Amino acid sequence: MTSETWSRRDFLRTVGAAGGVAFTWNAAGLERVEAASRSVAGRTPEEVARDEFYWREVQLGFKLDRSLINLNNGFTAPCPRVVLESVFRYMDMINMLPVHYQGMVAGNIQTIRRRMANEFGCDPEELALTRGASEALQIAQNGIDLEPGDEVITTEQDYPRMLTTWDQRMRRDDIKITRLQFPVPATQDHLYQLFEKAITPRTKVLHFCHITNLTAQLFPVRRICRLAPPKGIVTIVDGAHALGHFPFKLRDLECDAYGVSLHKWLLAPIGNGCLYVRRDMIPRFWPLQAAPEQQDHDIRKFESIGTHPWAVRAALGEALAFHQAIGAENKAARMRYLTLRWADALKAYPRVKVLSQLGEPAETWGVAAVNIEGIDVRDLANFLRNKYRIIAVPLVGGAPPNQVFDYQALRVSPNVYTTLEEIDTFVEAMEDAVKNDVPDRGASAVVPALEGAD
Ligand SMILES: Cc1ncc(COP(=O)(O)O)c(C=O)c1O
Repeated sequence: MTSETWSRRDFLRTVGAAGGVAFTWNAAGLERVEAASRSVAGRTPEEVARDEFYWREVQLGFKLDRSLINLNNGFTAPCPRVVLESVFRYMDMINMLPVHYQGMVAGNIQTIRRRMANEFGCDPEELALTRGASEALQIAQNGIDLEPGDEVITTEQDYPRMLTTWDQRMRRDDIKITRLQFPVPATQDHLYQLFEKAITPRTKVLHFCHITNLTAQLFPVRRICRLAPPKGIVTIVDGAHALGHFPFKLRDLECDAYGVSLHKWLLAPIGNGCLYVRRDMIPRFWPLQAAPEQQDHDIRKFESIGTHPWAVRAALGEALAFHQAIGAENKAARMRYLTLRWADALKAYPRVKVLSQLGEPAETWGVAAVNIEGIDVRDLANFLRNKYRIIAVPLVGGAPPNQVFDYQALRVSPNVYTTLEEIDTFVEAMEDAVKNDVPDRGASAVVPALEGAD
């Protein structure tokens, strides 16, 4: 008996045990993923990652345009139907009498803060909900006191908006910004030593990604953060692509501040992010928008941003439930399985180079970068889009204030709803490009010459 038939039968039994209800993908849609997860309980995440029957249930949780193959989920991903539906529900409700319902929903957000903190391993009083990672990180970057001559160490492959934020502080406050460069993929030891050697007596902040938005280079966050306290240095970590993507606990990272895009890998509606600030560090950061002095020690001071769409924030509750229904370990294993499927298939071609760390220990999940020697990556992206309707972002290094790197690559980021057929079509398209070359973009180019990627 194949594992597929086993799990299908088991799933049907589980659904039957739940009352023989015919599940539909409306507000009750979560039950379907939960039932599927119960049917695979006791199996390892690696086994679950290969169970297409299980992932079919997850795939059905989305309303998609399958005439396109979306391999740019690193930008933001579609949120599951139950999540989108809850945005509409909360909007409907708030719209009936905003002054009444908005306050009520805002008050209830405390429940979501608590659930998020439980899932991601911190105290609820250390977690502020924001509109994205840019807002979260800029609170930390602009909120820390720095004197002229103080130094911030970051990297050339940090996110452009965050680099721009430091550049603006440099112009405003006369601080010094040091940007470190590193090869990809880099070892954890190399990255640690890079930071260790770069620290000077004037260093006041270390700012780096948990994984980058380019090649998904993983950083040894805790090791680097442990360099900081003896020297009075503050650590700010960009977790835009990490939280909800692969499992870890925020408190284990030992950083001072950590910013996240929840509309990326947690599959929350666009407009959700969070900022973790270690409790004793909360008074050290000024909020972006002013808050009263009594809130100096209160994580909520970072959320005082005036009237904003509470429905979008409230829907975070369903996104978290969807994430928990799959399970962080199963999700990470599936992302890795999808990435290895295309990367292993393309190993046969010496001109194809993967710039992400795919070996053991596992350091790559659902984002990896690849190029084909001799082909401009913008032409490649255009070819994939025009001929195969595959969407993937070309990475081309720029100059400051942008990200600076000396490689070209296509960033490939599937998601939990991606099918094996879609991955295999990508492999076929890449084989086509290797064997037959691709046309120049020319005047009909639909892919702009992007620098970096979201
Ligand atoms: C590494 C990194 N940091 C920060 C951000 C900004 O996130 P947001 O768009 O949620 O503000 C992104 C977005 O793509 C990112 O990839």
